[in-house]
Amino acid sequence: MAELLHMIDNLSVNIIVSFLLLISITTLLNYLRKNNKKKLPPSPPALPVLGHLHLLKKPLHHTLIDISNRHGPITFLLFAARPAIIISSHILAEQCFTIHDLSFSNRVQLSSVMMPNLIGTANYSPYWRHVRQIASVELLSNQQLQASLETRAEEIKDMVHQLFQSHKMHENSERPNYFRRLDFRKTIFELTMNIMMMLIAGKRLYGDKIEDVEETQKFREAVTGWFELSGAANVEDFIPLLRILDLQGVMKKMKWVTEVMEETVQKIIKEHRQEGIGNRKTMIDRMLELGKKDYEKYSDLVIRNIAITLLLGGSETSANPIEWAMALLLNNPDALQKARTEIDAQVGNQRLIKESDSNHLPYLECIISETLRLYPVAPLLVPHESREEISIEGYEIPKGTMLLANIYQIQRDPEIWEEPMKFKPERFQDGRSNGKWMAPFGMGRRKCPGEALAMRQMGLVLGALIQCFDWERLGSELVDLSEGSGLTLPLATPLEVMYRPRHIMTDILLQV
Ligand code: HEM
Repeated sequence: MAELLHMIDNLSVNIIVSFLLLISITTLLNYLRKNNKKKLPPSPPALPVLGHLHLLKKPLHHTLIDISNRHGPITFLLFAARPAIIISSHILAEQCFTIHDLSFSNRVQLSSVMMPNLIGTANYSPYWRHVRQIASVELLSNQQLQASLETRAEEIKDMVHQLFQSHKMHENSERPNYFRRLDFRKTIFELTMNIMMMLIAGKRLYGDKIEDVEETQKFREAVTGWFELSGAANVEDFIPLLRILDLQGVMKKMKWVTEVMEETVQKIIKEHRQEGIGNRKTMIDRMLELGKKDYEKYSDLVIRNIAITLLLGGSETSANPIEWAMALLLNNPDALQKARTEIDAQVGNQRLIKESDSNHLPYLECIISETLRLYPVAPLLVPHESREEISIEGYEIPKGTMLLANIYQIQRDPEIWEEPMKFKPERFQDGRSNGKWMAPFGMGRRKCPGEALAMRQMGLVLGALIQCFDWERLGSELVDLSEGSGLTLPLATPLEVMYRPRHIMTDILLQV
């Protein structure tokens, strides 16, 4: 009986698969028929149904470099039936994000991302302009960032204090001045998650100061689940039959993740509404305050979508370049020493570094720029989609085409950058690289609205770590800088380091 059921089960899967395969082939043929008179950019040979999906190996930006090297600075690909262009020259990227910016201002709607109304996922529309304006003007403007600097400073103080304490606990007379091993990725990820949650909602997700342990644990699982699922290239996004069958359970997991995040944030908004705003200055409170005058503009749904966007868009993105910068500094101890000398001269050792110190720490800024040039957080930016047919370099790009700008490749262009593969923060000193094309935060209408916050945060975290502690590699070998794949561009091996508090900072570390 069981075997019979199994056979029927297999038979029905085969029928569904054949049926859906037929639909996919028909869609692809229709697409090719409709577009075969258009002059499309060069393209490698495509397979039926899959198009060029079979060529896409991880990390994707490296596969696309190979394709661009063979076919030119603008290439055309089909991800199953979804058209895409790959741009790998700064001249074309500049064109796409200036004269064609409005035409390319939609987002690719991926079905595995089940929140189409976040700032980063919504198509260009009055709704998107509305939520984007709230984020840029009311929450992430310089004035607002100035008002929230204490929150960031508190979290960073807390982190250096924890590092100091856990080092002290393991130090003893038999091993004075010893270096302690640290999971750097975990430490920085938890810090940036806590900073974003504190800025948005006044709650932490990690550490011993969390309030509702069980609920926080569930929310944490949902958020990290979202990063994992969004970071995996989900074939389900391109082949409808796989989406329906959901053999890997991706759609089911994403549904759970979405529900938990939406419910939790909704609950936080309700709590803030009931408790009144008081002295807190969180982003949710600010939106509730503004909503008192205009509820339509600040409905719970709008507040929820903005809060979720900023949490997902602002945490891993900021943690990732701090990890890369530390890895690069450990492999380039001269640059680490130069940054330390600058901090000691400008900030000293009688107080912890502040955000406003960044104006006097140009070398630290050069380190951050060089890190973002070599290892941009989003090597292909976040895919845009064309809202209409566009003509680029004589090619006709159909409406609904995904735009992948390979800024990783462009930012290493030997025509623009001397020794492009080398970590040389000095190339940014004294405005020496002014005018050279770089866009780690994107360009145009969909450019990252969190750039100013990210720059403040990265400078402060990296600066505090360099000011307070000595850093070493695990052994004599260089840190392995191989790239992994994910939502952001990660180091393939999570960074682990050795650290110890600097003697001259002991008084400060005891106070914070
Ligand atoms: C080093 C840190 C960061 C980097 C490198 C970065 C980079 C980017 C990039 C490349 C994009 C896509 C631009 C495009 O589509 O052309 C983007 C979009 C976005 N980022 Fe960031 N980001 C960072 C931090 C942040 C922070 C801290 C926030 C907010 C708290 C944030 C919020 C957003 C949002 C909301 C979008 C979507 C914009 C839209 O679609 O209209 N990001 N970011």
